[in-house]
Amino acid sequence: MENTVRVTIVGIGAIGRAWTISFLRAGCEVRIWDQIESAADDAQKIIQAILPDLARNNLLNGRDPADLMRNMRSFSTLEEALDGAEYVQENTAEKVEVKQEIFSRFDQLAGSNAILVSSTSGFVPSAFTEHLGCRDRCLVAHPLNPPYLIPAVDVVPSPWTSRETLERAVAFLRLCGQIPIIMKKEDPGFITIRLQAMMYHECWRLVKSGLASPEDIDTSIREGLGLRWSFIGPFETADLNAPGGIRDFVARFGENLHDIFPTDGPIEWSGELMDQVEGYRRERLPLSQIRDRQLWRDRRLLALAAHKNAQSSLP
Ligand SMILES: NC(=O)c1ccc[n+]([C@@H]2O[C@H](COP(=O)([O-])OP(=O)(O)OC[C@H]3O[C@@H](n4cnc5c(N)ncnc54)[C@H](O)[C@@H]3O)[C@@H](O)[C@H]2O)c1
Repeated sequence: MENTVRVTIVGIGAIGRAWTISFLRAGCEVRIWDQIESAADDAQKIIQAILPDLARNNLLNGRDPADLMRNMRSFSTLEEALDGAEYVQENTAEKVEVKQEIFSRFDQLAGSNAILVSSTSGFVPSAFTEHLGCRDRCLVAHPLNPPYLIPAVDVVPSPWTSRETLERAVAFLRLCGQIPIIMKKEDPGFITIRLQAMMYHECWRLVKSGLASPEDIDTSIREGLGLRWSFIGPFETADLNAPGGIRDFVARFGENLHDIFPTDGPIEWSGELMDQVEGYRRERLPLSQIRDRQLWRDRRLLALAAHKNAQSSLP
């Protein structure tokens, strides 16, 4: 696919907006449709406010924000928005019946060449594509929010996604500056969410068992593990932490790590435990300030993305 791919965004909330920026930045023509007509105007304003910041930080591929905005158009019907689309990214509500219904409409309305992709965080693609004539062209591409600053994307094929669809989707996402991480076959949780979920369980377990405060757990990631993980993964971390590499690491530390493996199943994130963790968060951040703090987080991510971008040509 070339850089002039016509993309349709269906559902233009937080994730639809963020994908739109990734696709505009790659030179795509982006067509938008949302069941709420005003959503597209709101999205346009939000995107217009973000692009200059990306340009200033060299994160817009040298493109001009005004040119990108001209490549974005909203439509009042799904049919018009899908016209000529080669790649469709669905970002509607996270309910399986909503996904089933919208993918049925894609089946009727999208061109026979279109790849049909869901941003779902939790449903495997077979849960909403089994009944479709176009099911070989459907898959999941689950972003981390926002994808224009965090490149990794979980790519998950269903049992009937064709190899060609998978290859085209991966090639297109790479063209857009994303880094696809491919689950070889569908399984709940994908890759990033599984890793995050395992970590969450341990965080809550540490609080529940009275071994650590929520604050110290946040600190251990922010000021500790997370610093390395922003440029090397856990396998490489282990490989570099022993003179003989990962085999040596396991020989030295593996037994101790085995001994702390939890055996008590998942933690219930409710009741007094929830009160304690929520109390910690609300004491530090009243809910009224959450939007400001999200914007702060995105500015920090932007600075990190700019730093990583500048370092990417180094060995
Ligand atoms: N928020 C995240 O961090 C995140 C991260 C990765 C993936 N996702 C996934 O992305 C999808 C969207 O999440 P979001 O956070 O952007 O939600 P959101 O509530 O911000 O936006 C959803 C948008 O979809 C529209 N919509 C809902 N149902 C629709 C329908 N049937 N037809 C057309 N438009 C419809 C809504 O009007 C809204 O504009 C979900 O599947 C979610 O699981 C979210």
